[in-house]
Amino acid sequence: MVAIDTGDIPEQAFPRVPDDCGIVIFGASGDLSARKLLPALYNLFISGGMPANFFICGAARSDLGDAGLREKMKKAVAAKGEDLTRWDEFATRLHYQPVIYDDLETYLNLGRRLEELNQAHGVGGSCLFECAIPPMLYSLVATMLGRAGLSAEDPEAGVWRRLVVEKPFGRDLASSQELNAAISSGFKEHQVFRIDHYLAKETVQNIMMFRFANAIFEPLWSRQYIEQVSILSAETLGVEHRAGYYEQAGVLRDMFQNHMMQLLALVAAEPPSIFAADRVRDEKTKLFRSLRPFDLDNLYDYLVLAQYEAGEIGGQKLPAYRAEPGVDPSSLTPTYATVKLFVDNWRWQGVPFYITSGKRLAQKLTRIVINFREIPHSLFRQVLGEEIKANRLVLDIQPTEEISLYFQAKQPGGQVALRTVRLHFAYQDQAGATSLEAYEKALADAMLGDQMLFWRQDGVELCWAYLDPVLEACESCGDRADRLHRYAAGSWGPHAAANIWPGHPFNQRS
Ligand code: BG6
Repeated sequence: MVAIDTGDIPEQAFPRVPDDCGIVIFGASGDLSARKLLPALYNLFISGGMPANFFICGAARSDLGDAGLREKMKKAVAAKGEDLTRWDEFATRLHYQPVIYDDLETYLNLGRRLEELNQAHGVGGSCLFECAIPPMLYSLVATMLGRAGLSAEDPEAGVWRRLVVEKPFGRDLASSQELNAAISSGFKEHQVFRIDHYLAKETVQNIMMFRFANAIFEPLWSRQYIEQVSILSAETLGVEHRAGYYEQAGVLRDMFQNHMMQLLALVAAEPPSIFAADRVRDEKTKLFRSLRPFDLDNLYDYLVLAQYEAGEIGGQKLPAYRAEPGVDPSSLTPTYATVKLFVDNWRWQGVPFYITSGKRLAQKLTRIVINFREIPHSLFRQVLGEEIKANRLVLDIQPTEEISLYFQAKQPGGQVALRTVRLHFAYQDQAGATSLEAYEKALADAMLGDQMLFWRQDGVELCWAYLDPVLEACESCGDRADRLHRYAAGSWGPHAAANIWPGHPFNQRS
């Protein structure tokens, strides 16, 4: 356990409150809006994170009306178990304007409605456009906003316009560039906020603090002391109701091109000179540029793909991926991948990074393990034998939020023996600190104009450029079916992964 010096904890969750603004949610009648966005905005409102003056305008195809949206969102927020004491106050700022996504006239109407709402709520014209719509509509909506003049900023008057988009940012390099070209027709890069909800997790944000606010870890953070690094994001959930999207995506597009690459970048990038969004993103870009291209002739020495079979989690019987609603019964879409990769730079030369993500695994667990090298010489070899376990630093991202350092200590008693002990810090022990849910953080930062936790287009493109050859090789090869391993739902994935990843849970048990 670590004793916490509470003097370091800032008292306020929101040291800065955003400028007055409107928030337009395209796709306001959809799932994302009800499950995540409105509950997040309501929570920000009750915890003091919203601007003094603001309004939210839902925009979608259905003819919901202000009252309809308020009622629907009240139910959604109540379903999340939120305290509704201040709902009525919040609801007076909720409005709705129908928009036909490919009809410019409806965007011009939206513009007129926004002017009225700016007047009514005392907002100066700044506006955040949130795309809670299917990704195939991003280009259209961004282009239309530009054509309707709704993306134009007025820096002198302090009026900003911002566009928030969710992943997927394309399905390969070419389509991500097309998407970006469409977005750029209306918005400049500084106006675009590409969400990666992993970056908004407290424990993920902490990775840089941990590395660069402590003098004792960074000197060890290189090939000299680190043997290998593993990054795991295991889920118990299956494909749920998202087969339409997931069948086309698979785990490499769904988890690797975005979240896993960000975790890798935070662990492996060089320190920026200052903690400013573009400096941090520059360092991530450099890291992405240093990734060693896959050896396509021996691809399966570095990559294991698999799909879940029927199984059981927590006593509940679960179907195979191929039997899930909407999934092709002969689907070859991978739901699991382990990738062994290398970073070709001075710091990391020769250190393998094992990156794994899968659905329907034994446990929900996102964990980064830094495995240090073994001691160079054991002076205990006569009494203890040769093997002394190497140190390990474990960053538990979720659901457990902890940092643990494992080291060797003397076993109490007369015998000369060692045992592995754990020094750990748990986020939940930080009494008084309020942590924000990922969407609360992302929306608050977008309103503040802070790009730190959002993707920049160069990073998106570099990650696609890195994965594209692999995706192409896997998806076009003649033996695709033979290359796809199987694992039972509720297991730790395919046994084949243990061959390329020494830290695989199967290997740890043995
Ligand atoms: C999303 C993926 O980006 O992240 C989902 O599309 C996945 O397939 C989810 O389930 C995992 O997020 P978290 O925060 O639950 O780890």
